Parts: sequence; structure tokens; C-alpha cells
Amino acid sequence: MKLPPLLVVDDEKNMRLSLETVLSGEGYEVRLADSAEAALKLLAAEEVFMVLTDGRLGGMSGYELLREMARRKPGLPVLMMTAYATPKLAVEAIKAGAIEYLGKPFEPDELLHAVARCAERHQLIAENAALKVRAGEAYRLEHIIGDAPKVRELRQLIETVAPTDATVLILGESGTGKELIAGAIHSLSRRAAQSYVRLNCAAIPETLLESELFGYEKGAFTGAHRTKRGYVEEADNGTIFLDEIGDMSRPLQAKLLRFLEDGSFTRVGGTQELRVNVRLIAATNRNIVDAIQRNEFREDLFHRLNVMQFRPPPLRERAGDVGLLARHFLRSFSLRLAKPIRGVTPMALQALEAHSWPGNVRELRNVIERAVILETGEEIRPASLPDFEVESRLRVGAPARVGGAVAGSARVFLGPGETLGDALLRFEQELIEGALRRSDNSITKAAGELGVTRHALRYRMSRLGLLPDGTVDEEGEASPASRPR
Ligand SMILES: Nc1ncnc2c1ncn2[C@@H]1O[C@H](COP(=O)(O)OP(=O)(O)OP(=O)(O)O)[C@@H](O)[C@H]1O
Ligand SMILES: [Mg+2]
Repeated sequence: MKLPPLLVVDDEKNMRLSLETVLSGEGYEVRLADSAEAALKLLAAEEVFMVLTDGRLGGMSGYELLREMARRKPGLPVLMMTAYATPKLAVEAIKAGAIEYLGKPFEPDELLHAVARCAERHQLIAENAALKVRAGEAYRLEHIIGDAPKVRELRQLIETVAPTDATVLILGESGTGKELIAGAIHSLSRRAAQSYVRLNCAAIPETLLESELFGYEKGAFTGAHRTKRGYVEEADNGTIFLDEIGDMSRPLQAKLLRFLEDGSFTRVGGTQELRVNVRLIAATNRNIVDAIQRNEFREDLFHRLNVMQFRPPPLRERAGDVGLLARHFLRSFSLRLAKPIRGVTPMALQALEAHSWPGNVRELRNVIERAVILETGEEIRPASLPDFEVESRLRVGAPARVGGAVAGSARVFLGPGETLGDALLRFEQELIEGALRRSDNSITKAAGELGVTRHALRYRMSRLGLLPDGTVDEEGEASPASRPR
């Protein structure tokens, strides 16, 4: 975790500048304010890990500033400097919320020690807060809503696999509940009372990921003021959830592979081999097979991770669950937003069930939250829902190109020498190829997305030359020809 800056408040310019020199020389980022008023303004705009203030300031005094900060930013460490260091003033400073007290004149080392204590405290609090968030979420199987056979199987599989120490890989589109599944697996495991640490590999800059995951030794890089334990150590005896693992770089994949083999790792900048006992759950919404083929994901790591595989289905494949989920989110948001909305009108339900939900359950959740906010009646009506038709037209239209122009926009032009018939065929081909790509070349799924029967799609494909020669229409999936023309 990166340390935020530190705020220095002093009305004497020379004092401000020499404090800045000393502190930034130690690697702290420093903000300066020449009055209590300026300090409060800065605090409203930016996070700092501590405030260093003089007791006497022009205008509002340092003590008043202290009281004001205790009200606005409770818990923010304040170090008070004063030339009149009497025990009475020290007590007053502490009462007003200062956690450290420095009598002037002081040695730079005294100051640096006090600041280092505040920095340490900040890191501890921040780390604990992060841990508490992780521990506080109790995931339960009942939180995974759905009646579709695939969802029932999923819950069953979680119950079976959770108590083992097996590595789990969760593959699914965005918003299908991968985090929910990972949490439930930990909560139902023998490690439930131990820590559950989550790390999103896509949210952390590449250069930081390794040091977050495996920790670093003091001096490993600029800013590494002290040794820091990695997430794998925090997760010792518990579970670590690596989200968006498909975004991890290949060099780090190699280190993760080694870690998975025997739980051993080395901190960044360290030489000692450490070892922990951690269960790993990984998830990604990327097409991992694709990533392996493109050499972006190590195949050996994939096999290591793929001991137990979970595949939460996209919401469009279980339209029957839309009503169930909608009512579930409706209950929770009407409670949270204190709006007693009883249900969803049949028309609104119809609109929800007809939508294709590219953002899956998360999208549905957001749609219901918005509807609860907008709805003025007792039930959710279509008017409180987004215009799905316009949205999906935009989506279908956006990637399709006709004669070099974007279809779905107001202006669609014919290519040079192209007739209307040619253009329509090209448009049709783009749409079909897109649907096939999205469904991994499954004709059945592509037909579903395009709203035609499998037979009709095959007919159109053969007319466009998209089927390999001589394919017979059997139940088995014929793989479409690579690229016609
Ligand atoms: N079956 C379900 N029942 C109830 N809520 C669900 C279900 N599936 C997903 N959700 C909810 O939908 C939202 C998205 O789920 P989650 O964060 O687990 O998705 P994800 O698969 O991790 O997505 P991403 O790949 O974008 O990270 C969450 O609020 C989650 O609680
Ligand atoms: Mg997720």
C-alpha cells in the first residue's frame, strides 16, 4: 500500500521549508499549508497520512485546528510542535486529539522517529481495514440465487469441493457471480475461520503485483522503507482469491506456478525461500483457451489451476432466473433505499426477461437499483427500466460495418460498385460472424443470439459460403469455414 502524503502546517516560511527538506529527504511526500484554514481546505481535497502542525498559527490556532480535524477526520494522526513545551500544554494537545507532541527546538531525528511511528500506524490501520472488509463478508450458498439446473449444480459442486483443499478455477463472463462463488467456497471450507484474501490482478499495476502478492524486503526498490509481507503470507492457513488471473504477466505466472507446486516463494529483493499453506482460488472472465493459444497464458499454469473448474452460466442462458433475481434485488434495494416497492409488473417482467443481459447479474442488479430509485409507484413499471431495445440496437449496430461505414449510425454508404443486395449480404455476414465469434463457433448458440433457428442460420451461412464444403447438416456442430471470400 502506498503511503499518502504528509501535511505540514506552519505560518513561518523558513520552518515550513526546512521541515519539507528533512521529510522529503526521507522519502515522504510533503504538502505545505501556511495556516489552519489552508490546511482544512487541503484536507478536504486530499488524503494525507498525518498532519504536522505548529501550536501557534496566525488566525485559527493549532489547537483549534486539532479540534476541527478530530471532528472532520477522526483518527488522523496529528503531531503537534510547540515552543512552549509545558506538561499542561502537552495534555491539552493530547486532549485535543494530537497523538504525538514535540517540544521546540527538536532534533531532526526526533521528528523523523515520530513521523515514522505515524506512518507505521497508518499502514497498520489501512491493512487491518482491508483485512476486516475481507473477513466481514460472510458468503453463503443461499446468496447464490437461481433455479436453473446449472445454478443448482453449481451450488451442489461448491458444497462438494469447498471442504477440500483443491485449487479452483472459475471461468465466466463479467457479472456472472465469480466472486460470489469464490467467497462461498472459502466460507464453506475448513479454512473459513482463517483469512480470506482477495487480490485483483487487473486492478494493480503490473510492476506492483509481484510485491503485493509475495511481499518485498526493505530496500528492494525506492520507497521500500521497510520489509512488507505479501498477500500470500497474510493468507497463510487461509484462502487467497486471485481475481482476473488472465491479466497476469507471463513472468509472474512462472512464479505463481512455482508457488502452487509447493507453497514456496521469495519476497521481492529477498533471497530467503519462504513457505506458506494457502488454498488458491482463481477467476477470469477472459477466454483462457484463447489466451493460451496466443501465448499470453502458460498452459502448465492453466492445468495446475484447473483442478476443479466452475463455470457460472451467463444470465441469457437462464432467462427463467431473471424474475427470481429481480425480486431478490428489489427486496434488498427497497429496504436499503427505504422505498416500499412490492414487486414488478408483468409488463416490466416481460421486458426484463426479453433482454439479453450482456453484463449478466451485475447489470440486472444495477437496473433494479436504478428502477427502485426512479419508481414512484408501488410496483416497478416498464417506464422505470432502461430502453433495452435501443441499447441492444446500438450494440449490434456498433461493430457491424457496411461498405466501410458503421451501420446503425445515421449514415450508411455503399462501397464502390456495391449494390444494395451486396451491402445487405455483407451486413448479414458481419452479424453472423460476430455471433459465431461470441459463441465460440457454436451454431446453436449463434442462432439463439440472432433469433433464428439453427436450420435457418445454416442455410444463410451456406449461402454466404461460411460453411466448409460438403458439410452435412447433422446434429453435431459443423465448424464454420475459417474466412470466406
Ligand atoms: N447467482 C447470483 N445470485 C445473486 N447475486 C448474484 C448472483 N450472481 C452474481 N450476483 C451479484 O452480481 C454482482 C456481480 O457478481 P460478481 O462480482 O461475483 O461477478 P464476477 O463474475 O466476479 O464479475 P467480474 O468478472 O466483472 O468481476 C454482485 O453484486 C453479485 O452479488
Ligand atoms: Mg469479479
